[in-house]
Amino acid sequence: MTVIRPVIIGTGHYLPARIVPNSEFAATLDTSDEWIVSRSGIERRHFAAEGEYTSDLAINAARAALANAGVTAQEIDAVIVATSTPDYTFPAVATQVQAGLGMTQGFAFDIQAVGAGFVFALANASGLILAGQAKRVLVIGAETFSRIMDWTDRGTCVLFGDGAGAVVLEAQAGSGANTDRGVLACDLHSDGRYRDLLYVDGGISRTGTAGVLRMQGREVFRHAVEKLAATATSALEKAGLEAGQVDWIVPHQANLRIIKGTAQKLGLPMENVIVTVQDHGNTSAASIPLALSVANTQGRFKPGDLILTEAIGGGLSWGAVALRW
Ligand code: ACO
Repeated sequence: MTVIRPVIIGTGHYLPARIVPNSEFAATLDTSDEWIVSRSGIERRHFAAEGEYTSDLAINAARAALANAGVTAQEIDAVIVATSTPDYTFPAVATQVQAGLGMTQGFAFDIQAVGAGFVFALANASGLILAGQAKRVLVIGAETFSRIMDWTDRGTCVLFGDGAGAVVLEAQAGSGANTDRGVLACDLHSDGRYRDLLYVDGGISRTGTAGVLRMQGREVFRHAVEKLAATATSALEKAGLEAGQVDWIVPHQANLRIIKGTAQKLGLPMENVIVTVQDHGNTSAASIPLALSVANTQGRFKPGDLILTEAIGGGLSWGAVALRW
């Protein structure tokens, strides 16, 4: 039986030029490189320049992904940007990307699921392809979290960074077996009761301001390992696969201890995990496509590899996608 499979045919990423090492925070806050590295695994992050916006990061990542895929912007049917830090309240960043790429065809919209945004966007893009709404979708995660930091809160401002990653997803024919290339299964969850664990204290309707990020880190951590392992297992089960068959986990890059804890719960060694958190910090929705693109650039994936992405973020929202490279 021939089925449609949404296959990643290209990846790309963009990081702003300015690299901020942990030591910069120690000048103004009661913190240290030692604390940040030991509690989070983060060594440095990139911050966007003044006048550099989420859409700029997204457009650069998108161009790189198109070049890597060997397709032009005119061959794309839809653009989805996962972001919680859009340039404007509206229009969507995705429409600015569309214009920036010179596209006048297709449709474009944003998805907001914070740290889980890319997994949600990938699942939605797959759905559009399976429904016959699009043949090729540009799926982007792009954030400028440096714009929503409370620079006096050492418990949050040392953790986040800016960046963008993108993939081109294309409809290809598969056999229906889980040996096919492409997205094999998605598993998504949200539970709005946990809003207060991770949120921004401003917004259009409530305060008319952008606000800054607030997080109960220890509580988010507690939910993270458990929920990530569960959703990863569930995505694999839906695909008729087991953790032992996974070649690569490409996790949301929030905290090295969460990444290690989740891999351990799944019974997988760290050699099978893509880790970029040391260089990027937590870039929210951008973290998974950034990690995918960095690893792809390094030639770490080979055709047929089983890749498992998993992420959690504000909402709480979390999910996983199992796909074959
Ligand atoms: N430097 C030094 N000390 C610090 C710092 C800092 N930057 N930040 C906090 N501390 C202190 C705290 O004040 C606390 O001190 P106290 O015991 O005197 O009160 C102590 O360190 C321990 O704080 P905890 O919060 O318990 O530290 P923990 O080991 O949990 O690490 C961290 C904190 C890194 C935030 C961790 O909890 C974490 O990563 N949580 C999950 C974050 C996450 O995954 N978010 C994902 C969402 S992504 C998205 O949606 C955008």
